[in-house]
Amino acid sequence: MELKHFAIVPLLCLCGLSGPAMCIENLLVDQLRLDFLRLEDELWDLVLDRNHRTGLDDPGLEIISKFHTFDNTKMNQMPQGLLHGLRVARQADTFLLLYSDLKTIDDMYHKFRKYLSKNMMPTNKEDYNEYRREISTTDMIDDILYDVNNVNKTTRQIVGHVFTDQPDLLWKILDILSSDDFNCKYPNQPMQQVFYNLYTTVALADLKGYVMAQFAYLALRVQEKGNHTEVALRARNEYKLRVNNTISTMRGAIEITSGKIWRCDPKHHVKGVTYDEVTRLLQGHIQNEVDLNEDGTCTGTCADYYSTKSYGCYDGESEYCKKMKPCYGKILDCRFVESNLKACIAPVWDSRRYEYIEFKSGLMMGEKSRCNNKNVFSWNRWFVHCSNCICLCDEQGSQSDRYFSLRPVMADVQYNRVVTGLRFIKHNRIFHLQIQEGELLPYGYIDNSTVRWVPVDDFRITTPGVKKGQDYHTMDHEERTMFMDNLAVEKQNHVITGVKFDLKGGNLQLKINVREFDFKSGQLSYNFHHLSGVGYGQKIDISYPDIPIKAPHSTPEWDYPTFVRFTHTDFNKDLAQTTVPFIDIQDVAPEVALPLRALGIYYKGKKGYGGFVAPTITTYDFGQHLEVDFPEANQRIDQEELFKVLPN
Ligand SMILES: *[C@@H]1O[C@H](CO)[C@@H](O)[C@H](O)[C@H]1NC(C)=O
Ligand SMILES: *[C@@H]1O[C@H](CO)[C@@H](O)[C@H](O)[C@H]1NC(C)=O
Ligand SMILES: *[C@@H]1O[C@H](CO)[C@@H](O)[C@H](O)[C@H]1NC(C)=O
Ligand SMILES: *[C@@H]1O[C@H](CO)[C@@H](O)[C@H](O)[C@H]1NC(C)=O
Repeated sequence: MELKHFAIVPLLCLCGLSGPAMCIENLLVDQLRLDFLRLEDELWDLVLDRNHRTGLDDPGLEIISKFHTFDNTKMNQMPQGLLHGLRVARQADTFLLLYSDLKTIDDMYHKFRKYLSKNMMPTNKEDYNEYRREISTTDMIDDILYDVNNVNKTTRQIVGHVFTDQPDLLWKILDILSSDDFNCKYPNQPMQQVFYNLYTTVALADLKGYVMAQFAYLALRVQEKGNHTEVALRARNEYKLRVNNTISTMRGAIEITSGKIWRCDPKHHVKGVTYDEVTRLLQGHIQNEVDLNEDGTCTGTCADYYSTKSYGCYDGESEYCKKMKPCYGKILDCRFVESNLKACIAPVWDSRRYEYIEFKSGLMMGEKSRCNNKNVFSWNRWFVHCSNCICLCDEQGSQSDRYFSLRPVMADVQYNRVVTGLRFIKHNRIFHLQIQEGELLPYGYIDNSTVRWVPVDDFRITTPGVKKGQDYHTMDHEERTMFMDNLAVEKQNHVITGVKFDLKGGNLQLKINVREFDFKSGQLSYNFHHLSGVGYGQKIDISYPDIPIKAPHSTPEWDYPTFVRFTHTDFNKDLAQTTVPFIDIQDVAPEVALPLRALGIYYKGKKGYGGFVAPTITTYDFGQHLEVDFPEANQRIDQEELFKVLPN
């Protein structure tokens, strides 16, 4: 499919009149309001034209037809469903009051819609009269203007519930949002979106009410039941005030909340479901000094062996040498603790080498609880003058998953798709950033039916043609740093269309692919640019870490730029068997898919534990499109009145 070219044309809107300020493109609901106000002017011109300049036989039918078209082509663009995106707002106890009024308007609008379609052009004149009588115009007008639950009363109440009643719904919602565990209770709900969705719901209900009221006044005027221009104009003014209040208040609420989403710790950590691990990057390993040098001597101390390798297992016939997991990589940072020790070797399939070691003095490294006694070996029969050293082993191999994909991860921009979510995933032993994508529609909506997690590139480090440093990065003793960054688009109407890890001086650095889009059409631009962070910053302190999933709730660190250096757990706590931090692999994506304005990775942890590296996203800021824009009505001159004052 050919990519449609899209040029960013300067918009011909009225914002220019107020100076060089940025031109604001309206949200869909605001655009619908402007479109209707224009239609309203046109229709009043039509009904007040008593000269029949327009030459219409039946202005009533013309009005019905215009309303019908407006409903079909415009109002129908709004997502259906009264409670769309209101999951959080519904938790407020006063929501029920609002809901009942929203429902009144919705039901009435439903009836109105039916009325319009029944009164549209007939196929057969006789049937038509039968058909249209099902809901009469008088009946419709009564409902709209004179019922106990008329639209004037109901729309006023709706706005009242939201901002002016005591206490108003906005406050109640702010209360819910500011509770400490909001993020854990609603993991897929950007706070900003709570207000934005409420705004859309209220603005739409108010618009529906207003559309019906104007219909009623126009219809009365056509039926020549008095002069209704005045009351119609009053309704317009009252509506204008409500709109102004709604927008000013809601914009305030939207501005103080953010569109950020991140995942708090799950109730239960499950490997491969909520987290995954880099394994055996640097791992505690016991080796007798005699095996640490070529000559098989014991003339030094453990600390002399800063970087060496293993030269075998001296006591080759012993049970220990048969069961132990040898280190075929670099042996680093050796230290001596006590020679007399018992070690529990971890099962063969486990990425740990040991469960624990216990020294004769009683000192423990690791947790004694988990050992099968058959795997305990004692070394006290070894040489008096040869030390058992505790070192770190940096060994690559089938049990050490230490790879990160460097390939770009792109939304399918050819089909106008953008990134809507992010998570980490370990596939074929390689960590990937995985994106959720969806097709961008007009006004920043995403087509829900296109939303999916894009499968990651299915390659292995052993696949022919796959290159280290180009397709993937291998962490080792020297290169094991990942930069924490939150990358945000710099301008309005820009969204994220891709993400990847770059290698910068051997360190992993996040990079995003950004594209401009046309707000009204939803069309993505051809052109793109990349953004990445500034590099180093403060090192995240991970000292004396224990296994991350043992920690009580971890706390995110939102400071940027920072970096994480992958390391091993503490010797005393875990015998340095585990690589930390872990990688949080929970989905980060809003419940209702939205385009993104920022995306990042951050560290969350607890002092004394290894913590997690996790993704975060920030949804597109719709608040920037909220502007009060309410045109003045055209002058409404009743031609009949005009004739009266004209001289004969
Ligand atoms: C009808 O409305 C117009 C415009 O508001 C007003 O000037 C006029 O006086 C009204 N006529 C009657 C009969 O009320
Ligand atoms: C709507 O109701 C209020 C309060 O009852 C009233 O003051 C106002 O005139 C009404 N507006 C219209 C257009 O009828
Ligand atoms: C719009 O609303 C704001 C805040 O409620 C108020 O300060 C401002 O005067 C209003 N403007 C108009 C034209 O009503
Ligand atoms: C979007 O689609 C998914 C499945 O395709 C469905 O479960 C979900 O309810 C839909 N969401 C909305 C807001 O329509």
